[in-house]
Amino acid sequence: MSLRCDLIVRDATIFDGTGANRFKGDVGVSGDRIVAVGDLGAASADREVLAGGRALAPGFIDAHTHDDRAVLCGPSCMLCKMSQGATTVVIGNCGISLSPVRMTSRPVPPLDLLGDESWFSFGSFGEYAERLANDPPVVNTFALIGHMSLRVEAMAGDTQRAATEREAMQMRQRLAAALAEGASGFSTGLYYPPNMMAPTDEVIAVAEALRATGGLYVTHMRDESRDVLLSIEETLKIGRAVDAPVVISHHKCSMPENFGRSVETLPFIDEGAKHQKVDFDVYPYPAGSTVLMPERVRDDVPVRVTWSVPHPELAGRLLADLAREWGLSLKQAAERLTPAGAIYYQMDEADVQRIMAHPRAMIGSDGLPHDSFPHPRLWGTFPRVLGHYSRDLGLFSLEQAVHKMTGRTASVFGMVDRGVIRVGAYADLVLFDPATVRDVATYEDPARVSDGIIETWVNGQSAYVYGKGATDARAGRLISRNRL
Ligand code: ZN
Ligand code: CU
Repeated sequence: MSLRCDLIVRDATIFDGTGANRFKGDVGVSGDRIVAVGDLGAASADREVLAGGRALAPGFIDAHTHDDRAVLCGPSCMLCKMSQGATTVVIGNCGISLSPVRMTSRPVPPLDLLGDESWFSFGSFGEYAERLANDPPVVNTFALIGHMSLRVEAMAGDTQRAATEREAMQMRQRLAAALAEGASGFSTGLYYPPNMMAPTDEVIAVAEALRATGGLYVTHMRDESRDVLLSIEETLKIGRAVDAPVVISHHKCSMPENFGRSVETLPFIDEGAKHQKVDFDVYPYPAGSTVLMPERVRDDVPVRVTWSVPHPELAGRLLADLAREWGLSLKQAAERLTPAGAIYYQMDEADVQRIMAHPRAMIGSDGLPHDSFPHPRLWGTFPRVLGHYSRDLGLFSLEQAVHKMTGRTASVFGMVDRGVIRVGAYADLVLFDPATVRDVATYEDPARVSDGIIETWVNGQSAYVYGKGATDARAGRLISRNRL
């Protein structure tokens, strides 16, 4: 009997996600798994896709997202990711997660990046997980629990201070419960007020919950500028104290006076890696994006407004232009716009490339899906790495580029049977054209579908087709660290 599959992609150039050399072959899928790889000339399938030599890779894993809410609202909200070939997202980053906290008034920034209080309606991670089970996401979802969400709940909103021992203990218990219900780690955003009020000891006290499940500690560090080395040290200390593998979020050297300092930070991280598990993600742009913080704007770092509650019509404008038109200082103009979001042109391209090329780097978009004029990373991250950085600049091979967004990420986060093309792995796949793949989204026109991503499959089901858009498949699942 010859093999019969649900789907065969024939005549593909296979990038298997491990970093190994590309090879020609066919891939057969039945149900949600890859069932055959190689010459499947004798096999047949319900649907056959002729790849014509184009690239087939494991679906990309977005190592850093704020998609907690976007995964709940169906294919339209996730088009930005599926159209890049992403099939799995890591949510709950930077200390911000939609659960476990119920809110009755507007969340303090940066929690409001996820939306207003009406979205914070999950009293436990279990309730959030149940929602994902009943109303499946279009991409696989891997969840972290945010320190800020835990703080708001445990400290009854009074967060401009260190937590008491009792409050830290309550956060630890809430985190332990969430981990038992399928969350995979703990994230902090110590850079942000009011989280910056949390001393290292508070973070360690909460993170202690990770020990039992082997969960990850993921952090937007306290300082990514002058004191970036001290912050890496603090991060490593927290990881060691609770025996947790560490992921440094969106690694960067921020602000002009720190340009070039990735020559210090990367060897420092490598040194740490001799003694404990530490990795990092990075997005492929020299500008960052988060909430607009008036007290932190500077004249040597241009700022673009991404949303504003009092002035929604000004999304997309440069803060310096608005300040000039209003006859105000940058800080005053920013105050007039808040609550608001912004893009900060705060990095050096050479650092971005050095960090991305490092063997420990994973690709994460850090895209902000609810911004009205988002940073282009929301729509362009993965094609930009494949097209601009790998193919056009030759920063690394296409095998390495794919590895940084698939196999490497799956192994760091503990996503079992994902991030690789091999028999038995989940059929999360992306078909793309290495000759034409490229990001189309720009700072001026950010919500644009990328070129060259032909089709994306999530757990064996077609989720996105170029030129047609998202299908109505909702084949994504909650996936948990080191669990089948
Ligand atoms: Zn962050
Ligand atoms: Cu983030």
